[in-house]
Amino acid sequence: MKVGREDAAMSQVNAYKRPAVWLHWLTALLVFLTIPAAVIMLQPGIERGLQDPLFVFHKNVGVVIFVLVALRLIYRLLNPPPPLPESVPTLQRLAAETTHWLLYVLLLVMTISGYVRVTAGGFPLEGLDALGVPRFLPRSDELANTAKAVHSVVRIPLVLLIFVHIGAALYHGIIRRDGVLARMIPAMSKRA
Ligand code: HEM
Ligand code: HEM
Repeated sequence: MKVGREDAAMSQVNAYKRPAVWLHWLTALLVFLTIPAAVIMLQPGIERGLQDPLFVFHKNVGVVIFVLVALRLIYRLLNPPPPLPESVPTLQRLAAETTHWLLYVLLLVMTISGYVRVTAGGFPLEGLDALGVPRFLPRSDELANTAKAVHSVVRIPLVLLIFVHIGAALYHGIIRRDGVLARMIPAMSKRA
């Protein structure tokens, strides 16, 4: 389709820069791995031999996700996202902006509540411990339980929002074909 191709070509100019693209896909990959790891590690009756490595994986990957999100936010401040194609209606722009900010907030809430739950609960955080990073919180069961509850509740809007986000990305990529998906997949705009 003519319009689709024009917009896709335009997206070469309007694409996210490489560091933003790498940070996005690395974060997405780790989130996709760490959520099933959490679900499996909390299954009743799971063997310790499987549960322990999954806990270690989940906690430490979560810390990496925190670092990636922090880097992304700093990079975003210095390099604001490129403008969306003009064909995207105002309401959709607003929805995209809100969804993206909410995803960042929820990822931060998940990683910080995870850190608080583990630290206040007196559990190891293998990666940071090996690097000699001190813990920033005292031991407190009350704090650990509050953080555990926050972690458990916030996973629901996070998962819902990820579905909405992927749905929107696929809608733009498959139905609208307006170059929005290509902004995050440089290979797509090269093919256009
Ligand atoms: C974006 C990052 C993260 C996501 C998406 C995530 C997701 C989840 C989910 C879905 C659960 C299951 C909750 C439940 O069924 O009630 C969970 C549990 C857990 N997470 Fe995370 N998590 C993240 C980061 C972290 C981090 C950074 C830590 C620790 C440093 C951590 C430590 C834990 C622990 C200890 C549990 C078990 C909670 C319990 O005691 O029942 N998580 N996480
Ligand atoms: C198959 C999975 C995914 C696809 C196809 C996808 C696609 C996209 C696309 C096309 C954009 C750019 C939208 C625009 O141009 O305005 C974007 C941005 C974004 N995505 Fe994803 N995404 C996926 C998974 C995820 C996951 C798992 C997360 C985090 C939980 C995430 C978080 C974000 C955020 C925060 C932005 C905004 C980037 C910024 O402007 O700073 N994405 N995604």
